[in-house]
Amino acid sequence: MGNVVQQDILQQLEQLRKDASAALAQADTAEAMREWHTEYLGRKGRLTAILRNLGSLPGEERPLVGKVANEVKDALENALQERQAASAQAELEAVRRAESVDVTLPGRPQNLGKLHITTRTLREIYAIFTAMGFQIYDSPEVETDEYNFQLLNMPPGHPARDMWDTFYTTTPGLILRTHTSPGQIHAMREYATEPIRVILPGKVYRYEAVDASHESMFYQVEGLAVGKHITFCDLKGVLINFANQMYGEGRKSRFRKSYFPFTEPSVEMDIDCVLCNGQGCPVCKYTGWLEMLGAGMVNPVVLEYGGYDPTEFSGFAFGMGPERMALQKYGIDDIRNFYTNDMRLLERV
Ligand code: FA5
Repeated sequence: MGNVVQQDILQQLEQLRKDASAALAQADTAEAMREWHTEYLGRKGRLTAILRNLGSLPGEERPLVGKVANEVKDALENALQERQAASAQAELEAVRRAESVDVTLPGRPQNLGKLHITTRTLREIYAIFTAMGFQIYDSPEVETDEYNFQLLNMPPGHPARDMWDTFYTTTPGLILRTHTSPGQIHAMREYATEPIRVILPGKVYRYEAVDASHESMFYQVEGLAVGKHITFCDLKGVLINFANQMYGEGRKSRFRKSYFPFTEPSVEMDIDCVLCNGQGCPVCKYTGWLEMLGAGMVNPVVLEYGGYDPTEFSGFAFGMGPERMALQKYGIDDIRNFYTNDMRLLERV
């Protein structure tokens, strides 16, 4: 009788081992494994339930059943530990895979910045003139009426002042400069009576009806050369050389008579249109010519204000607008595009 019970318990243990092993293979979360442990190996679990029958066995049969029960228990506990370790490892692998960087992927292209067209144009102008021996001279943007007008031969009431009306500060006589020409006086007063060859770049301001070719804030680059025996030929030579370097060799140029109170004689220099090669197009208004700058021989009155004796010294001066030059060079149709921060302008050049 005892032997039959023993066989029965041993069979139950074997069945338990099979059921538990199969169930464990299905348990794939920590929660499921905890439940599995409670069901098979817990205090109220199936193994405990089987072992409760141990008492009905004769004394000599108990050790064998006890031994097998312990083996089943150990085997199942080991299996659980292995399963937990494997599951933890799999989890770790998943995290590692999700967080890993694939170093074989191609890089993302960087958006490279560019210099503003005005800055680029200014730098081209600097390079050409410094190679000809001109130095870059900085002069103030906030000027006095005296420097902006009077010392440039425009006393109060002079009609030419209307061409260069500006912005006024609340301090009487203090204005935003309308051109870089007052820098001529600063340079001359600093260096008189040494010879001078300078360019004076910077922002200028005008009370202007803004349109496609007129801004109320724009840049100018002034040029000034003062010395003995400087002639109009020197002025032409320097400017023609500049135009060839700026726009390409072989440019045609022409000088038209003009009027500036601070130069005598005065001219305006045109070059043949860089877009249509002088054939006529909307940019040159079908004239074939583009205005490049104003220039002339420094008026003796201005030389004197600057500290040079006009019977001994002479000089030439010019003033150009880099935005206008960039408009021509890159075929941009509206000067207002320069300072509205539209990135498409930068991408065009
Ligand atoms: C002058 O300002 C003189 N001071 C130039 C000069 C210097 C003459 C030395 C003789 C000797 P003007 O007003 O023409 O001249 O301006 C010179 C250049 O600045 C023009 O050729 C043009 O390229 C540019 N410019 C003038 N007005 C504007 C404007 N509103 N917006 C953009 N560019 C302008």
